[in-house]
Amino acid sequence: MEQHVLVPDIGGVADVEIVEVLVKPGDVIEQEQSLITLESDKAAMEIPAPHAGTIKSLNVSVGDKVSEGSSILILDIEEAAETESTQQDSVAVEADELVAQALLESEAEVEVEAESEIKSELPAIIALPVESKQLAESQLSTDLRVPAHASPSVRRFARELGADLTHISGSGRKGRIVHEDVKAFIKTSLQQPKSALPNFADQPEFDFSTFGEIEAKPLSKIQRLSGAHLHSCWVSIPHVTQHGEADISELEVFRKKLNAELEPQGIKLTVLPLIMKAVVAALQKFPSFNASLNRVGDELILKKYLHIGVAVDTPDGLVVPVIRDADQKGLAELAKELADLGQRARNKKLKPSDMQGGSFTISSLGGIGGTGFTPIINHPEVAILGVSRADTRPVLVDGEFVPRLILPLSLSYDHRVIDGAAAARFIVYLGQVLSDLRRALV
Ligand code: COA
Repeated sequence: MEQHVLVPDIGGVADVEIVEVLVKPGDVIEQEQSLITLESDKAAMEIPAPHAGTIKSLNVSVGDKVSEGSSILILDIEEAAETESTQQDSVAVEADELVAQALLESEAEVEVEAESEIKSELPAIIALPVESKQLAESQLSTDLRVPAHASPSVRRFARELGADLTHISGSGRKGRIVHEDVKAFIKTSLQQPKSALPNFADQPEFDFSTFGEIEAKPLSKIQRLSGAHLHSCWVSIPHVTQHGEADISELEVFRKKLNAELEPQGIKLTVLPLIMKAVVAALQKFPSFNASLNRVGDELILKKYLHIGVAVDTPDGLVVPVIRDADQKGLAELAKELADLGQRARNKKLKPSDMQGGSFTISSLGGIGGTGFTPIINHPEVAILGVSRADTRPVLVDGEFVPRLILPLSLSYDHRVIDGAAAARFIVYLGQVLSDLRRALV
């Protein structure tokens, strides 16, 4: 049987550009295999196949703009695939009823949709800039996060019950989330005690105009989404900030010398690439800072790669592009990449993949000023380094005050994973490396 595969509900966004076509006519595809990638100015998502089958013809190509209901391709569905999908749906309905019953027992309300009302599933979000709400709940990740693997019936089931699949661990084949996982997640959630904290969002809007003239200025999309992510990181991670300083007087002499050499190539070396190199050395010495806590909170996942995120303030809000494998790059390459990422961030040219996979973040306000701040950890990372403006100060050396260039550092860390002594050792070592880069060789 031939079927038109249409763009499903993509959250009401229209005219979204196709940036990748992942299949071609004649391909035999599986249910849920990704067909195309859509990318709006803020997010990218893959559209999965609703059924297994053979691709008869493609109706789209890269660069086309599509909305909900646009035809993507014609799929030749095999009988077996149809039967399988019908079976899955009936399993879903059965599971729906079981959970509905469980929820009713818990005095929760559940609406089980009629089978005829089942709509296409919103695809798993594969990549979002740091600002996404989901990211906020998991990761801005940066990290962006790993897409949830689940069949459409499980997705529908989870959506009806308000369960976020990215918070559920799959017990099925290859980590696939099955109905039982959703039920277990809901059961656990129902058993959680309700927070007694006041929720400001539940309170009525305050009328500030009572006291004088006001102007309401809508937040940008990045601000709204990164705000949700930052809020989530702030309330869910026990932060401690360790402040420190580094004497970068010698480093500055070296930087200026190198800068003069690199200038003819059009490369400007600021202190940030040098800080990145020192951070790489510190992360190699203290691997628990280059890690993530698993969701349950009983395992620390140490990363063998060093992908460093750099916070960039743009007119639309904060984004965190990532420099991959910073340990394998030289200073000139880091400087070039930083300038390119900063430029593309400001021109809204970053791709979601530019903002994924970070293992540690640096937020540098050194170009602006200030003496110290409390950076918010970029979940799922466990630490972030804040850098303030270097300043020349009198320092007592051998009984005499001499002018030295001092760089203020502020390291926020997740206290569930890192203890205060480790953070102090990290920042002291970082300061030593910045004072004398040769220390990174020891
Ligand atoms: N102390 C003293 N001066 C510093 C410094 C520090 N810690 N960090 C940077 N500077 C200086 C630089 O040397 C440069 O000086 P110059 O113009 O006289 O040569 C100036 O400040 C501007 O540097 P900047 O353009 O910010 O470069 P960078 O390499 O430090 O930062 C990016 C790279 C990507 C972060 C940068 O392009 C950018 O977007 N900067 C804006 C600041 C920002 O967004 N910070 C994050 C906020 S959350």
